[in-house]
Amino acid sequence: MKLQNDLILRAAKGEKTERTPVWLMRQAGRILPEYRAVRASVSGFIELAQTPELAAEVTIQPVDILGVDAAIIFSDILVIPEAMGLPYEMVEKRGPWFPETISSEADLKKIRVADPETDLNYVLEAIKITKKELNGRVPLIGFAGAPWTIFSYMIEGAGSKTFSKAKRMLYTEPTLSHKLLDMITESTIKYLHAQVDAGADMVQIFDSWAGILSPEQFNTFALPYISKICDALMPRVPVTVFAKGAFFARAEMGKLNCNTVGLDWNMDIAESRKLVGADKTLQGNLDPCALYGSFEEVKKSTEKMLDAFGSEKHIANLGHGLYPDIDPEKVKCFIDTVKEYSAKMR
Ligand code: CP3
Repeated sequence: MKLQNDLILRAAKGEKTERTPVWLMRQAGRILPEYRAVRASVSGFIELAQTPELAAEVTIQPVDILGVDAAIIFSDILVIPEAMGLPYEMVEKRGPWFPETISSEADLKKIRVADPETDLNYVLEAIKITKKELNGRVPLIGFAGAPWTIFSYMIEGAGSKTFSKAKRMLYTEPTLSHKLLDMITESTIKYLHAQVDAGADMVQIFDSWAGILSPEQFNTFALPYISKICDALMPRVPVTVFAKGAFFARAEMGKLNCNTVGLDWNMDIAESRKLVGADKTLQGNLDPCALYGSFEEVKKSTEKMLDAFGSEKHIANLGHGLYPDIDPEKVKCFIDTVKEYSAKMR
């Protein structure tokens, strides 16, 4: 299937484009009334994610309604722990919760390396249906959590401000930590390959809790595993690495075998370009809260961001996911501004 709009793939590869491509983290869901209607027809997030026809439908909604240049498959990073043997629940208004966690070497016997073809078949089916229904309009992004972020949920069992249980494990049980990180990495590589087999055009690795590690811990327990995943997937598809809060690791991320490095809004754009180097494409990085401003303000901050990134090697996005109470019209304003202003920058 030939893609009618491959801007994001070309930008990821560093090629010149007519304008800057744009999509948003967490674009599938939450902010759209159309999503909430589909969500209300099932028991909850997990049933929605596990029903391939519905997952495909909400994946495509932001392409139709908002006009983004890529779709991202509707799923969650926590499907990996589940496929490894630790199921999760999504508690209304509180987030993910794991009835069972890993706290000792013996617990490793409870889990296994995931087999995506059986344990995650519903995601692969959703990707196949989405690709068919997109019919080449825009590329489809596959994704997975980075091993450290997945590890932190498997130890902690829920979200946390400090992830101190997970960090404690790194300090007190480094051998066990590396064993678990290895199992997660192996599962993730298989899973991302299966997503590409099913039709994903590019993949993003989310290291949402990278920023709570010390630089030394990041270099020991996070970066080598991300690097392994990049090496396994490149150059089969473009790979994006988004390590939220890892401002201290931008130079190291510039050396990864990936096309694109995601920036959060705390990271200065010019400084990041210097640290990451000239070769990589950068993705980001407007503060999601900037979308609470007036249309005039959204337009102004989006243009300022585009000016700072320049007209090449940039994929426009937010610095983290959309919040549920952001007005879809403001999101559209962000997207339209990227499209119009970046074309004029050429
Ligand atoms: O980006 C997209 O639109 C695609 C879908 C997607 C979801 N989760 C759907 C979701 C993606 C890419 C994710 C990734 C994810 N999930 C991350 C990494 C990105 C990030 O935000 O840092 C993380 C850390 C998670 C774990 C997770 N899932 C949490 C902490 C929560 C609860 C809080 C929240 O953000 O809502 C979820 C739930 C979740 N994942 C929802 C959706 C649409 C809301 C569930 C619902 O509809 O009730």
